[in-house]
Amino acid sequence: MTAVARPLIDIRDVRKQFRSRSGTFLEALSDTSLAVQAKQFLCIVGPSGCGKSTLLRMIAGLETVSGGTIEIDGVPILGPRRDIGLVFQSPVLLPWRTVLKNVLVPAEVLKLNSTSSQKRAHDLLKLVGLDGFADRYPDELSGGMKQRAAIARALMHDPDILLMDEPFGALDALTREAMNLELLRIWQASTKTVVLVTHSIEEALLLSDRVAVFAPRPGFVRELIDVPIARPRSAATRSDPVFIRLAEKLRSYFEADKDAGK
Ligand SMILES: Nc1ncnc2c1ncn2[C@@H]1O[C@H](COP(=O)(O)OP(=O)(O)O)[C@@H](O)[C@H]1O
Ligand SMILES: [Mg+2]
Repeated sequence: MTAVARPLIDIRDVRKQFRSRSGTFLEALSDTSLAVQAKQFLCIVGPSGCGKSTLLRMIAGLETVSGGTIEIDGVPILGPRRDIGLVFQSPVLLPWRTVLKNVLVPAEVLKLNSTSSQKRAHDLLKLVGLDGFADRYPDELSGGMKQRAAIARALMHDPDILLMDEPFGALDALTREAMNLELLRIWQASTKTVVLVTHSIEEALLLSDRVAVFAPRPGFVRELIDVPIARPRSAATRSDPVFIRLAEKLRSYFEADKDAGK
């Protein structure tokens, strides 16, 4: 028998306090513990303001913890790491650079070989369905295309971990559905570890192996729900009885939060 593998991302008793200008403290996260296994797709759902973005920024090394520890592969996080790719809610593309040049930013920052980076950037644009748009500028793209370019950029330096903060929140329902399936395809082709924050219960269930439900602020993981639905998944996955049952269960948490907030 082999022992249970050490989680790739290990979040233990993490707290986060922000200090306001007037000197008062706001507790964003309290005693948050969460383990993400390598190659797992984990979704975080929870009410607004419960610290989801803050947690992603702490995993990415862009924000310090006020207490507790976050380790990646057994190493505490001290700052930004190159094995992490980040996708924000609104795609932050540089307007004066073409799509190709935007995707190449991480390669330039990390001083990767330029010939192989060019090839990889073109391959990634193909992967996210943007071949033919390499020489366009961001303002020539739709919202969904910009977000796909941002995903290609996050994958440029081949990070093991992809952190995505409500990446499809601003998209219309149809584009969002198409992007969900596209992301599943990309994830299956690259087998990365993904942590994705979403407001959508359906999105969480369609994508993930496991859903972490956060409590209202100060947030913590109130429930971990495994999603034992076979892959590859498709639009038809939504009518799977397990999907429907889990969606009801997740919805009941949000209803309870709303009632508690009355
Ligand atoms: N840099 C900051 N300074 C002060 N307060 C912050 C800062 N970032 C987030 N907060 C506060 O922390 C709480 C959690 O924020 P956030 O992580 O963005 O929540 P979520 O992503 O779940 O909506 C909110 O109340 C927010 O206003
Ligand atoms: Mg957020």
